[in-house]
Parts: sequence; structure tokens; C-alpha cells
Amino acid sequence: MSLLEVKDLNVQFKTNDGLISAVNQINFTLNEGETLGIVGESGSGKSQTVLALMGLSASNAVVSGSVKLNGKELIGMPTKALNQIRGDEVSMIFQDPMTSLNPYITVEAQLSETMMIHQNCSKAEARKHAIEMLDAVHIPDAANRVKLYPHEFSGGMRQRVMIAMALMCKPKLLVADEPTTALDVTVQAQILKLLKELQNEFKMATILITHDIGVVAGACDRVMVMYGGSPVESADIDDLFANYYHPYTSGLMAATPRVDLPTAKLQAIPGEPPDLSHLPVGCAFSPRCPRATEKCTEKKPVLEDMHDKHPHYVACFHAKETANEGVQP
Ligand SMILES: Nc1ncnc2c1ncn2[C@@H]1O[C@H](COP(=O)(O)OP(=O)(O)OP(=O)(O)O)[C@@H](O)[C@H]1O
Ligand SMILES: [Mg+2]
Repeated sequence: MSLLEVKDLNVQFKTNDGLISAVNQINFTLNEGETLGIVGESGSGKSQTVLALMGLSASNAVVSGSVKLNGKELIGMPTKALNQIRGDEVSMIFQDPMTSLNPYITVEAQLSETMMIHQNCSKAEARKHAIEMLDAVHIPDAANRVKLYPHEFSGGMRQRVMIAMALMCKPKLLVADEPTTALDVTVQAQILKLLKELQNEFKMATILITHDIGVVAGACDRVMVMYGGSPVESADIDDLFANYYHPYTSGLMAATPRVDLPTAKLQAIPGEPPDLSHLPVGCAFSPRCPRATEKCTEKKPVLEDMHDKHPHYVACFHAKETANEGVQP
């Protein structure tokens, strides 16, 4: 049995403009210690996918499908039971640390709270562990810094505090939603390295969300590329970089700086992300796709295995004709 099994997960939102299909037919499994990267442009449904599996969708959301953590179904689980699992077995690092940390409460109190609630330990024990965790995320002088307020930390340090908070109860699954987007490139690399280190140490499974396909290369075992709320390509990381089939994945690759080809011109994907309340009948990417034919505008392609070394799923009618030459991660 896998640690996490997600089957046919869908999220729709009821709005005044009608129903918005934000997440469609997500399927994946995650074993202990594995990392799945979810990649896609802004609005492609990455955050809504993980919020749904944590039971944190907005009140106008209709969520269907199944999410099993260690065999326990999370969809439809009562809030009290979910609250026990969140923070204890599953933790999340949110997109923006400043909105997740309370500016009026010291870092110590915020870190300790999770532990005191979930593990029923004393204030002194929680404090000791909070300092240990700040140490683990390489915050210097942790014993004194723990008494500070979030605004007294730099952006990179705050992100480290968020990671420490997420790991206080040693979760089996960590969900990191663009944990490095707000940071500059050097700090971003440090945080990703830290996450990898901690993941190995704690043997945590991780879902790492990013809009930068370059980030998943060093950090993930598997990748799911999303477009317009649907998965369009999903594969082991080595297989994906050896051969990518979907034109949207090609677009993401062409828009990513390459260390081995520093002079290569970066190309933005032309056109706009789709309007989720008016998705095209056929492939959602077809209006922007250089390979689109009539068939693509009439019918929605489903994921099919390309039979690489490992299962490699692609939703494109032209996948087999137009596979790309790989790049080295
Ligand atoms: N409560 C809501 N009601 C209606 N639509 C919503 C609601 N919450 C999110 N959406 C829509 O769901 C879609 C997917 O959003 P999501 O936050 O998952 O994108 P994302 O891939 O995480 O993007 P980003 O990279 O910008 O974080 C967006 O079009 C968003 O506007
Ligand atoms: Mg998001």
C-alpha cells in the first residue's frame, strides 16, 4: 500500500459565472520518502489540488474522488479527525510565509503550539523541540532567535521558520506549495537543498509545487505537469528530462534557463492560460499549441502511457509523432 493514493480527484467551484473546473481527474500515488513535483503556470490548479487533498478547499468548492493516506479516506472526513491528521501526519508549507505566520506572536509560541496540540507535551518540551527544529533548518543562534517575531527575520529565514513549523510533528507527508517563489535565486537553492536534507533525515514523502520546471530536476522523483486544471504529462524525472512529449512541457522547458546552454534564447509560451469557466471542448492547450490540428479542437485527449522505461503518461494526440529530444537535468 502506498502512503498516499489519489484517485480521480476533481475540484469545481460554484461561482456567479457558473461552475469552474479548477482540478480535473488527478491520479497519483506516493510512497514513503518519495517526492512528487507538480508543475504548471499560474492558475493551472496546483494549489487547489493539494488544498483539496488536505481538506482545505474554499466553501464554494465541490470536491470529488478519493484521497487515501495510509489507507484512510480523507475526502469527506469530519473536520475534527482531519485536524488531527493535519500537522500530525501531513503538513503544509504555504505559498507566502508572511500570511501563514502570525505577526503578533513569537516564533517560539507559533512553533510550540502545533506540538502542544498534537503531541500533548509540556511548554518546556515544546520550547526545546522548537529550538532543535530551528537548528535543523540552520537558523543561527536558535535559542535566542526563537523569542523573536516573524518580521524580525529575513524572507529566507522566515521560509526556514515555516519549514521548521511544518516539521515539528515529524509528518509522513509534507506538502510544499511554491516554498521558494518569493526568494532570490541563491536563497531558493539553499532552501531546496535544506528541504532535500530534511526529507532524507525524516524519510518524509513530499509534494513540491513549483511553476519552474528547472526546480523539479534536482528535487523530485516524479513530476506531474498541469495545464488548465488537468494533468497533461506525468513521468519519472529522468524519463521526463530524457524525453518529453507534450507541447506544453516543451514550452516550459524552452522557457527555463539552462546551465549547460547559458546563451540559449529563452522562449515564452505565446498566448494566455485558459479561462477555466470556458474551457475549450477539445484540448485546453490547443489555442496556444503549435502542433494543434482539427482533432485537437474537437476532442479532449486523455492520458496515455508512452511506454518509456517506466510509465510515462501524456495527454496529446500528437505525442508519439513529435517527442522532443531530451535535456540533461
Ligand atoms: N474559491 C474559489 N472560487 C472560484 N475559483 C477559485 C477559487 N479558488 C481558486 N479558484 C480558481 O482555481 C484556479 C486554480 O487555482 P490555483 O490556486 O490552484 O492555481 P495555481 O496553479 O496554484 O497558481 P499559482 O501558481 O498562481 O499559485 C484559478 O483559476 C483560481 O482562480
Ligand atoms: Mg498556487
